[in-house]
Amino acid sequence: MREREKPAESGRTADIPGGGKEQGQKNMDGQKNIMDYETVALDEREPAVVIIDQTRLPGRTELISLKSAKEIWDAIYLLKVRGAPAIGVAAAFGIYVLSEKIRTEDYDAFLAEFQKQKAYLDSARPTAVNLSWALNRMERVVLKNAGRSVTEIRVLLKREAVAIRDEDVRVCRAIGEYGLALVRPGDGILTHCNAGKLATVKYGTATAPIYLGQERGYHFRVFADETRPLLQGARLTAYELQSSGVDVTLICDNMSAAVMKNGWVNAVFVGCDRVAANGDAANKIGTSVVAAVAACYGVPVYVCAPTSTIDMDTATGGEIHIEQRPAEEVTEMWYRERMAPEGVKVFNPAFDVTDHTLIAGIVTEYGVARAPYTASLKEIFRKKAAERPD
Ligand code: MRU
Repeated sequence: MREREKPAESGRTADIPGGGKEQGQKNMDGQKNIMDYETVALDEREPAVVIIDQTRLPGRTELISLKSAKEIWDAIYLLKVRGAPAIGVAAAFGIYVLSEKIRTEDYDAFLAEFQKQKAYLDSARPTAVNLSWALNRMERVVLKNAGRSVTEIRVLLKREAVAIRDEDVRVCRAIGEYGLALVRPGDGILTHCNAGKLATVKYGTATAPIYLGQERGYHFRVFADETRPLLQGARLTAYELQSSGVDVTLICDNMSAAVMKNGWVNAVFVGCDRVAANGDAANKIGTSVVAAVAACYGVPVYVCAPTSTIDMDTATGGEIHIEQRPAEEVTEMWYRERMAPEGVKVFNPAFDVTDHTLIAGIVTEYGVARAPYTASLKEIFRKKAAERPD
């Protein structure tokens, strides 16, 4: 297990049980709803990245303000902001905020410091490709504008980070439309981990069809896996779906076979952190168990993936770097007292790879890719290139 420095204390901007001061509107009944907060926002005045501290949900809604490289790195590493797209947006805002602190107007000196900060942020979590995808996109702005002043480049960096945030809303909505076409009103849907609003900017990826269905009266029955060890399903997915009025039932990770055997699940929708060119998909640990069980009961598994999560430079899932996390997450976190013998060996990979043969479709913002994925994913990127030649 790798030794870590003590996390930096990030600035807390609000500490409100079940609600927040600086973001979030009141509902008709005066209650604030988690869905009214921005998962990741830019405070332009400071400047700072403002996030909901997801480690405190659902008990407390705390907004924290991240200004230094260490605060941003820690927030990503400690899963205060998590979920592949949200990590990408936080990194984009983060590198912009840091660029404002680089005290030079000399392009070469600025670029060198920018790349140092970029490499540091990129090291926070290895599996979600959106982290390096967003940082590379921000770096391209600096490289493409070498002839401009550093002051102008900072303005362009802010614009790019805001574009990454805004695109995420459009992309997730498009995924929602394509995903919704795969299910019928009244269907049972199982999801794992949190690929919801809290993992993105607005709709989520795996939850986007659920939210669009909710708007259109589909009355889905959703089963949310609690998702050991960090309980993103229980703490985040169940919370945001329930707050949105969706019919959601929380189950332990070892109950997916029971609900599928009962015939309660018509489709599985999950998110992902990196899809390889052959369609193998890395997502939260346990996803591949769900997929294997679903195959057993003939339930289709759909992986919802913005093209920013598809890594055509990674040939197969075997090449995906799987993050290992501290043993304490398994042995004691969330328990009143330690629940495993001292010194026991622990294996705690944060993700697993679901084999492409277990995936019925990869739902992107450009349509649903089907097997063989090596060809269909290339077609998805051809469509993207035709629409966005840059
Ligand atoms: O470790 P986490 O909580 O960041 O893992 C998140 C997931 O595995 C999500 O399913 C994935 O990032 C997709 S989010 C739209």
